[in-house]
Amino acid sequence: MSDTAKLSLGGKDFEYPVLSGSVGPDVVDIRKLYGQTDAFTYDPGFTSTASCQSKLTYIDGDQGVLLHRGYPIGELAESSSFMEVAYLLLNGELPAKDELDKFTYTITRHTMVHEQLANFFRGFRRDAHPMAIMCGVVGALSAFYHDSTDIHDPVQRVIASHRLIAKMPTIAAMAYKYSVGQPFMYPDNSLSYTGNFLRMTFGVPAEPYEVNPVVERAMDRIFILHADHEQNASTSTVRLAGSSGANPFACIAAGIACLWGPAHGGANEAALNMLREIGTPDRIPEFIARAKDKNDPFRLMGFGHRVYKNYDPRATVMQKTVREVFDALKVSDPVFEVALRLEEMALSDDYFIEKKLFPNVDFYSGVILSAVGFPTSMFTALFALARTVGWVAQWNEMITDPDQKIGRPRQLYTGPTQRSYVPVGER
Ligand code: CMC
Repeated sequence: MSDTAKLSLGGKDFEYPVLSGSVGPDVVDIRKLYGQTDAFTYDPGFTSTASCQSKLTYIDGDQGVLLHRGYPIGELAESSSFMEVAYLLLNGELPAKDELDKFTYTITRHTMVHEQLANFFRGFRRDAHPMAIMCGVVGALSAFYHDSTDIHDPVQRVIASHRLIAKMPTIAAMAYKYSVGQPFMYPDNSLSYTGNFLRMTFGVPAEPYEVNPVVERAMDRIFILHADHEQNASTSTVRLAGSSGANPFACIAAGIACLWGPAHGGANEAALNMLREIGTPDRIPEFIARAKDKNDPFRLMGFGHRVYKNYDPRATVMQKTVREVFDALKVSDPVFEVALRLEEMALSDDYFIEKKLFPNVDFYSGVILSAVGFPTSMFTALFALARTVGWVAQWNEMITDPDQKIGRPRQLYTGPTQRSYVPVGER
């Protein structure tokens, strides 16, 4: 590609630099466009817009590739741990043994939450959705940890990052405990990040809780698969909130709010609900027909992706993990059979082939989480727990980016032009 892009507008010619990343499509640098031409670009949903430079995550949606700091997601899910991936995303390199030990120790020592935070939970209705609780409680952390809200202090940024990553499992588990009316469980720092979360969620003070190592590994892998995903809606929300200088706890709460939507993090809950509604393989054609019907708003949940126009590499790992968890827990669930048949039938249907709609990360994750014992309402909260690492890493990257500015998109105004106010009695 040439190193400039030419634009003719209003009888004048303009040239814009073309920038190349280390891999992936080039970008046309239009930062001077408005100043020079008095015109904006129009790009709803930012489908053709790079909002920032980033060194964290690379996706090639056509090839079904996802890399964190250059490492393929399949290799990380297979061989790494969530703590290691968190370190990698935050620091840019895989840690040496002593670095990983120190990082894990630090995160582990931040797992407790301020005792008074429990009062926040008690203000919610028992049937509150865990994501409603997470939005509120995570936002409230800034009131409890005010000593790590100065975004211009690099030490405070690190402490806030560690606090958020460490406290998220505690908060998510408390949201669950509150909904089932069981006492909150304090963290047990002798356990792994994921083992600790399982114990805080499913353990009770009355008896010891033994962490199942296969479930622990499966959950750790699910956390790895959700750790970061480039400039998706919730990450862009965190960056946009952070661009005004808002504190990290408020920014992550904004990310949680965005993630809650059914087109984003809420899709895993919606996917399992859909599979249960289908119920048996013989009903699949009916649902495929509905998904294809332009007059029916129904979509196959867990299918399709803004970026992947190929198999989502995270879905491959998820499908394998379902079998491992079923074997370890000696359970089976008819929805898995429905999911496999649905995938097979959709992938041989012209509608899905032509539109390049494949299973995404959410298609199988609900089947695993349900087998482990999580209610569907907790699924998105687990996604938020894991994605906090990505949000925090992206937020840190943004704060130190010399090109960073407050995010302020413009618009194509189509409303009324200026007109005079008419008093109410004369309308
Ligand atoms: N079922 C049926 N048709 C679909 C689906 C689907 N799941 N997804 C997209 N389409 C059709 C859509 O109707 C449209 O058809 P047409 O061109 O005839 O109007 C075409 O495919 C393109 O869809 P789009 O909505 O313009 O594509 P998008 O890139 O804006 O949307 C998406 C991506 C993920 C929102 C969408 O595929 C979807 O709604 N999927 C179901 C929800 C889901 O699984 N979301 C999880 C995403 S992965 C987790 C995450 O990153 O948060």
